Amino acid sequence: MWWKNAVFYEIYLASFADSNGDGIGDIDGVREKLPYLKEAGIDALWLTPFYPSPRVDNGYDVSDYCAVDPQYGCLENFQSLLEEAHALSIKVIIDVVFNHTSTAHPWFIESSASLESAKRDWYIWRDQPTNWESFFGGSAWKLDQRTNQYYYHSFAEEQADLNWRNPEVKQAIYDVLSFWLAIGVDGFRFDVINNLTVSDTFVDNPIGADGKQVHLYDVNQPGVMAVLKEMNQWLKTVDPDIFTVAEISSDQLSVISSYVEEAGFDTAFNFNLGSIEDLDLKLLTHEFQEMNARNYLPTLFFNSHDMSRSWNRLAREDRGTYELLSVFLLINRGVPFLFQGEEQGVGDYLPSHISEIRDIQAKNKYYEQCLFVETQQALLFANEVNRDRSRGMIPWGASQQTGWIGSSPINPEGELISSVYQELIRLRKAEGPFQVVTNIQLENGCIRYQVEHLSVVLNFSDLSVKQNISKKVQTIYGKGVLSEDRQWVQVPPKSCWIGKEEQ
Ligand code: NOJ
Repeated sequence: MWWKNAVFYEIYLASFADSNGDGIGDIDGVREKLPYLKEAGIDALWLTPFYPSPRVDNGYDVSDYCAVDPQYGCLENFQSLLEEAHALSIKVIIDVVFNHTSTAHPWFIESSASLESAKRDWYIWRDQPTNWESFFGGSAWKLDQRTNQYYYHSFAEEQADLNWRNPEVKQAIYDVLSFWLAIGVDGFRFDVINNLTVSDTFVDNPIGADGKQVHLYDVNQPGVMAVLKEMNQWLKTVDPDIFTVAEISSDQLSVISSYVEEAGFDTAFNFNLGSIEDLDLKLLTHEFQEMNARNYLPTLFFNSHDMSRSWNRLAREDRGTYELLSVFLLINRGVPFLFQGEEQGVGDYLPSHISEIRDIQAKNKYYEQCLFVETQQALLFANEVNRDRSRGMIPWGASQQTGWIGSSPINPEGELISSVYQELIRLRKAEGPFQVVTNIQLENGCIRYQVEHLSVVLNFSDLSVKQNISKKVQTIYGKGVLSEDRQWVQVPPKSCWIGKEEQ
């Protein structure tokens, strides 16, 4: 399977590369960067939604599943991108958002028009709301005055949830998948796919001890696995090479894994590890061990368009720590997903005024907080959840791009960081595939593990650390120094060492 040893690269289209100077990244911008991506060692791209959309949630509110938003180009541009990527042996997977459509989608327009509409049952309509909360804050139900019923939206009110209990919805979605398969995409990233069904009992969610709502009846509902399993089986019969990765809105490994083990996705995003809030080595090691106790290949990432960048969040702007994290991502068992700009050490973009905030989640937070605190304080709270942090435009070379959003800050050490990523990807290809990891340990601020014939020591501490070596090895990467008798290695603070077993 091609994806098992591939390095993926997420492209958040609007902020990646703007080919026509209108301030918005576009498909031709990606085409221009293909040689750069090839040179960096990237094997596959994940493109975030590029479909027509009112962009309430920046494209995750789709109003036509089978077209390209004119601001990104057209279908011909997309086809050219596919052809050119394929010519460079780069695969392309696309983001599909099937939990909800935009309320501007013709399906919703038809559904909401009347109680008798042929598509009324394509969405979730009720006379009375439950207490279920939207993931962007506030009630997940919106009263539509025209028919005096509420529709369900697990995200923004402009993102209405589809009713997956209706077989016509399922068929319509299969048609969408067939459309893109015919065009030649190599796989799909399924957005919040565990939200797909809600409980048909429509009971209120309980409130936890922390005062927060427990999403007991609106995610991971009985029936969702069967629907997804059937879809995955169908996809694999159409094309066994198609890669599927599930986005599960959970940071619990058991929940995430169940969608691979029971629903048949190839893998799923490991938020249990990827979105940790700070560099908690105990937690990192524990999750890493648990992930490797499972049979399928996990995903490895520390960045995406939904979280603060690891340069700030985890590495705290320290290049040494950042390098250790990149070794962990790339010289390891799993499917690495890099996020645009990560390979240049790009940091968080921080809006300094509400007028600069684009993320709906941060906007909601800001206005909610303004009821209680001063605007400057509200801005601080909003920025704590602001997904714009990772969505600033990518600076290319010394020039910043700005447009629909400000520029991500340039990392002065960016070139050095890029060469580290490039070297690690080269090593991964030369020494992989990495299918087995053993001896995962955490000691004195050092994470060490054995991946196939490589011993990896990541010293996150501020002290130089001596580690015993049990096999005859030679150094292939890092600043660690092997003793003459090759019994131990001395690894300087915030540095790593990779040793290769002698044949
Ligand atoms: C997950 C996506 O990654 C996020 O950006 C989006 O807001 C939600 N799904 C809703 O589609």
